[in-house]
Amino acid sequence: MKNKTAVILSSIIVLSASSCTPAVRNASYEIEAEPVSDMLVEENNTGSEDDYSDTSLSSSKPVQERDTSRTLQKESSLHEPSLTDSTKKDTAIPKVSVSESSVQEATVPEPLNITESESTHSEQLSQENKNTEKKQESSLSESSVPESPNANSSVQEKSKAESSIQESSYSEEKSEPVRQKDTSEPDTPKIKSSRSRVDQIDISWEAVEGADGYIIQYSTSKKLNPKKCLTVETTDTKVTLKDLKTNSKYYYHVCAFKKAESGQKISSDWSSTCSGWLKSIYVVDGVTYIDGILIANKTYSLPSDFGDGLDPEVYEAFNRMASDAAADGIYLYIISGFRSYQTQSYTYNSFVYDRGVEQADRCSARPGHSEHQSGLAIDVNTTSDYFDGTPEAIWLANNCVKYGFIIRYPKGKESVTGYKYEPWHIRYLGAQKAAEIANSKLTIEEYYGITSSYS
Ligand code: DAL
Ligand code: ZN
Repeated sequence: MKNKTAVILSSIIVLSASSCTPAVRNASYEIEAEPVSDMLVEENNTGSEDDYSDTSLSSSKPVQERDTSRTLQKESSLHEPSLTDSTKKDTAIPKVSVSESSVQEATVPEPLNITESESTHSEQLSQENKNTEKKQESSLSESSVPESPNANSSVQEKSKAESSIQESSYSEEKSEPVRQKDTSEPDTPKIKSSRSRVDQIDISWEAVEGADGYIIQYSTSKKLNPKKCLTVETTDTKVTLKDLKTNSKYYYHVCAFKKAESGQKISSDWSSTCSGWLKSIYVVDGVTYIDGILIANKTYSLPSDFGDGLDPEVYEAFNRMASDAAADGIYLYIISGFRSYQTQSYTYNSFVYDRGVEQADRCSARPGHSEHQSGLAIDVNTTSDYFDGTPEAIWLANNCVKYGFIIRYPKGKESVTGYKYEPWHIRYLGAQKAAEIANSKLTIEEYYGITSSYS
């Protein structure tokens, strides 16, 4: 382990016309300076110098090592707060890229608090079921949305049988019964994919030929009994179940229906039941974690006393990346790592002074809202817009995920992340999560279904 030397770095910050850098100012930063590799140093001449390096290095000192005690202290808090096992239960859901459905907007029920007795629609179904009970007992003539199967297979068998005799809760007034097992009964849809977020689940299924629409039932209860679950009807082959109860597991299945001439809906059997954990969201000591990942954005803030430096695991990952980049002739260094609440306050206010609140908010986080305060974010080489398209930026974008980083504020996502494109700002997530999110081509906000906006 190398020795550490504390030095005071005074930097003069120059405003770049094109980048999010504050006006000229002086600032003193205490850093632990220890170059890891002589190769990593290169003055970046692509734009203005960076502005707000709390733990950043001078251009001749690209990276510095952390002390071991901090490593040990911080490792436990890097990704996983002390959470229950339930934070990890979401992995059963296959990851797919799913686009938003517009159909469900109108059909998804109001926000849920599902209990055994709660469901407006289910109550309605219940009433309708009562009304038709006699018919169900005595007639085999009605086709319908089948009763939801229980999770156990015997009940699933039963479902098939009962579907033929149960009157549809979804159908309109029936004047004429529809023959059970009519050849026009649509095939059962097959669920193709699903993806859980914090309070939403995206589901898609294979289109059924001739289907006029689909009905999705869902519930926190394994027994997808119509009386206890909510429904969505759509003509699309995908749906987003919204406003779900966070930190919960949901069960769901889909059936297809056709409309008979009478207007009655002739339903297929339910698909097999699927389930998925929503991504867990917890607030621990004022810090929000989703899926075990610390979240700092415009919506989710950090306590003012949170953070004590760049996380050692992040620092180590960056050094590995910088070494590999150097082998490719690419020189990467930390221009800004950890920034305390106070430093961020200074930085943000400088932007406000220079450009006003509206412009400042596009490129600088308000104090308490910066990822830099988490110790998990790094600005690489510069914060000038001229960084975009440089060999360093391209290398970083192409390779950072291997080291557990993502480009946190991608191009064209300002409305989602709340910030302009920052090709230099990387966020550490660990290799697995970084790969998951990078592969999804989504931002953290999109991936987890969260907002980034000041309240
Ligand atoms: N520039 C990023 C958004 C920050 O200030 O944290
Ligand atoms: Zn940054």
